[in-house]
Amino acid sequence: MPLARAKNSPAGGSGNDLKPSRNPARARARRLHTVQGTVPGYHRNRPLKERSMAEHHFIPVTTDRTGAPTPDAEAARQVVLVTGATGRIGAATARELAAQGHHVVLGARRIERLVLLAAEIRAAGGSVECHVLDVTDADDAQTFALAAFHRHGRVDALVNAAGVAAPSRLDALKLLEWDRMLDVNVRGALYAIAAVLPLMQRAGVGHVVNLASGTGIGPAHAVQGASARALLAIAEALRQEERDIEVSVIAPDMPGGAQAVAEAIGAVLAREAHACA
Ligand SMILES: NC(=O)c1ccc[n+]([C@@H]2O[C@H](COP(=O)([O-])OP(=O)(O)OC[C@H]3O[C@@H](n4cnc5c(N)ncnc54)[C@H](OP(=O)(O)O)[C@@H]3O)[C@@H](O)[C@H]2O)c1
Repeated sequence: MPLARAKNSPAGGSGNDLKPSRNPARARARRLHTVQGTVPGYHRNRPLKERSMAEHHFIPVTTDRTGAPTPDAEAARQVVLVTGATGRIGAATARELAAQGHHVVLGARRIERLVLLAAEIRAAGGSVECHVLDVTDADDAQTFALAAFHRHGRVDALVNAAGVAAPSRLDALKLLEWDRMLDVNVRGALYAIAAVLPLMQRAGVGHVVNLASGTGIGPAHAVQGASARALLAIAEALRQEERDIEVSVIAPDMPGGAQAVAEAIGAVLAREAHACA
């Protein structure tokens, strides 16, 4: 099983820290990480494809003779909640993070897909559990996060990969689709953040990853674009409010599709683990 974590990854993203972190290593690393520069003001200079993996300096996390992770590997292992785990990006992210040695907690509405994905990850040697989750239900989101917290004693990261994309012109007046997009993409992400925030605040550590599209401005993309920018605003506010919680935004419109997005998410979580080590 390929287990890896990032070492000395270059700091990226944009934005200034308004509140200093108590942890100097975290303070240096802490900023709103954004990957794939399609959102004005949040660009990395080069798209992910052009950044060589050598820049991340991956080092192996070792196992002992029985194949069990060593204390080093245990320390790098995070409990990561992934919403929208049955989707293209969510499933790829779950596989990627499990392959890196993290424990992944999968959430989505389609239980049969969740179970199949969990079985696949387990068969590959990964550590996984799954829960039925409707992110538009605040109680559901709470239960999702608390179940993981009670089982593991912590929630290290949340990946908000649940989303709906239903492009249409405004004059098509698809009000129900507008509601669905805003409900899942914006309200759902907020509910998931609300569920993990007190846990992360109490732990003094955590990482929230939002997915936001940079292709949202233009005909047929009014509501999708609005929700993507809402996710950016939420991420930026969270970053400024919470000095101990890392916030990343990934723009998924990158060459390489869902797998590239999953690898980018794996890289930002690994970078954070290294910064805190
Ligand atoms: N793929 C791209 O190129 C791209 C580009 C730009 C932006 N994005 C954004 O990235 C996110 C993920 O994209 P994707 O391609 O992986 O989408 P996808 O394949 O359509 O998957 C969507 C995921 O969202 C989940 N979901 C929908 N409503 C939900 C709800 N009420 N509660 C919980 N989960 C819900 C679905 O699970 P269930 O149906 O099982 O609940 C599914 O797992 C979306 O926000 C999308 O808008 C993607």
